[in-house]
Amino acid sequence: MNTKDLLSISDLSPDDIGRLLSDAIELKARGWNSCLSGKTLALVFEKPSLRTRVSFELAMKQLGGEALYLSPAEVGLGKREPVADVARVLARFVDVIACRTFGHDTLVQLAKYADIPVINALSDLEHPCQALADILTIYEKKGELKGLNLAYIGDGNNCANSLLLACAMTGINCRLASPEGYLVDKAIFAKAKAYAEDSGAELYSGTDLKAALRGADVIYTDVWTSMGQEAETEKRLKDFAGFQVNAKLVSMADKDAIIMHPLPAHYGEEVDREILECPQSVIFDQAENRLHAQKAVLRDMLGGLEIGGRH
Ligand code: CP
Ligand code: NVA
Repeated sequence: MNTKDLLSISDLSPDDIGRLLSDAIELKARGWNSCLSGKTLALVFEKPSLRTRVSFELAMKQLGGEALYLSPAEVGLGKREPVADVARVLARFVDVIACRTFGHDTLVQLAKYADIPVINALSDLEHPCQALADILTIYEKKGELKGLNLAYIGDGNNCANSLLLACAMTGINCRLASPEGYLVDKAIFAKAKAYAEDSGAELYSGTDLKAALRGADVIYTDVWTSMGQEAETEKRLKDFAGFQVNAKLVSMADKDAIIMHPLPAHYGEEVDREILECPQSVIFDQAENRLHAQKAVLRDMLGGLEIGGRH
């Protein structure tokens, strides 16, 4: 890929996404290999994680490399020491950094001062690794991307931003329905529109649930209260009333629609438990695909060479 860092899904080109998807499929079929032997990843996390941490650690291990997890209490990004110093110290020790943070600018600063690749493992603005796994899952389930209809129901948050861009780049029609005040970021929507001109994707962002769900092949939702927004929980519960993905909403989509969620879910809020337990739900395949998609990213970024292999 033609980028040092992966801070936004738009750091990748549509061609990069296509190649990463086929690499992820290949790596998923092959399992373990040693292409990243001798390479080390530092995971710098300011927020909790299950999937992202485990999938990054295992991705390195299964490709012959190592990962070091640095918890919020250890590093104190910008508190115990400046982000610029953390970046330059880590760059002397490891080959790549994956960082989960609050403000996206922390990632921008890390990437600026580290002369090694920096990967966004979730910020308040984007979750690009999630979007790659999402697109991989959609491709596996539907056998195509271009022309599919995806309905995103809920908060116009980090996952929505990356997913919208990824859909626009790959030709998936993306329709986001959110309550007033929680629509997807205008600048991200404009950026997605520009990609859609090339890919032919149709995009919608508004409050109309029916417009989003009509003919949907994929129904996607995420929490109403993201990490760091806990103080707003009560207000959000009121504001999002009617936007829960439940049997009634699912019946408005295509009968073969798959149901997706990045997890963890706040059951009884953005989704009811039965819906994520039903046969249309692909949430655990989606979670597993974090591993395969990130292996492809890490191998590409670190130029993993395999004897007799393509990389
Ligand atoms: N979907 C996701 O990023 O999960 P974690 O917060 O558990 O890493
Ligand atoms: N929007 C959620 C995603 C968690 C994977 C959050 O930022 O908390």
